[in-house]
Amino acid sequence: MLVSLWNDVPHKGALKMITCSAPGKVYLFGEHAVVYGEPAICCAVDIRTRVSVDHADSITIRSTLGTTGIDFETHPYVSAVVERFQDISSLEGVSILISSEIPVGSGLGSSAAVTIATIKALDMLLGTGLELDDIARMGHEVEQRVQGAASQTDTYVCTMGGVVMIPQRKGLDLIDCGIIVGNTNIFSSTKELVANVSDLNKRFPDVIGPILSSIGMMSVAGKGLVNTKDYVSIGKLMNINQGLLDAIGVGCSELSSFTYAARNSGAYGAKITGAGGGGCMVAIAPHERVDDVAAAIGAAGGEVIVTKATDVGVKVESL
Ligand code: MEV
Repeated sequence: MLVSLWNDVPHKGALKMITCSAPGKVYLFGEHAVVYGEPAICCAVDIRTRVSVDHADSITIRSTLGTTGIDFETHPYVSAVVERFQDISSLEGVSILISSEIPVGSGLGSSAAVTIATIKALDMLLGTGLELDDIARMGHEVEQRVQGAASQTDTYVCTMGGVVMIPQRKGLDLIDCGIIVGNTNIFSSTKELVANVSDLNKRFPDVIGPILSSIGMMSVAGKGLVNTKDYVSIGKLMNINQGLLDAIGVGCSELSSFTYAARNSGAYGAKITGAGGGGCMVAIAPHERVDDVAAAIGAAGGEVIVTKATDVGVKVESL
């Protein structure tokens, strides 16, 4: 697929395709609360978005969504990255090809992964010499420009890989248990859900404020539990976090049904990951129960992705 699409793209001079990739992510704790400065714990997972680039006469962005130039409807994140590189380098034309294992708009960090992989690929092509911190920072600026508001979580974790506490940017031990994702295939808009929580918080600050701080407290407790590999306790806190996400209105019946299916079939714990309202839930489970949990989420109607934590963040795949 990648090669045949690439052959249709008009390249400039000798083929010098550079391919970079970045991972998706799941939240163990803290989505939404992190927007209010509370800590969150996020884990990079072993499903990746790959971006290939080459010099060209004009700008072409190609993915399963279509072939465009700079186009903020079809390819908003990549378009914003290209414009950023036009500001900092002599970039005029480039061919960009995207292929992804991360479902779009599902809470698994697809936007961050395509943003970060594109930044790294263009950095390599144009020799701009960006460090990892620069890549994460530019990725965050791009997400903020496209979404209006975004925490640094997704872009930081998918740049660095591993399990990370935000906003402290503290790397924790990699979790060694099964990670099972259930996708509702219901598209959810992060921008709208974040705005809904903000409205609720403005209307009932004394009610919503303590819920958001309580979610933050779970991340604080979760930090020690990740490093002592106490997955039973992490699972219990994930279940409580799920209850609080439901309370702030970002749940839906499918997400609830998949989380109960996962818990009833041997998961340590299960919750929404990402903005909610659709998108995905995540369960963690002992390795020997992964198949049972995956089957139960599938039987409840979820599209299942079985994955694992990865400490590999953005990387060069080929030069
Ligand atoms: C979306 O993946 C996570 C939210 O916390 C928004 C953000 O952190 O930007 C809902």
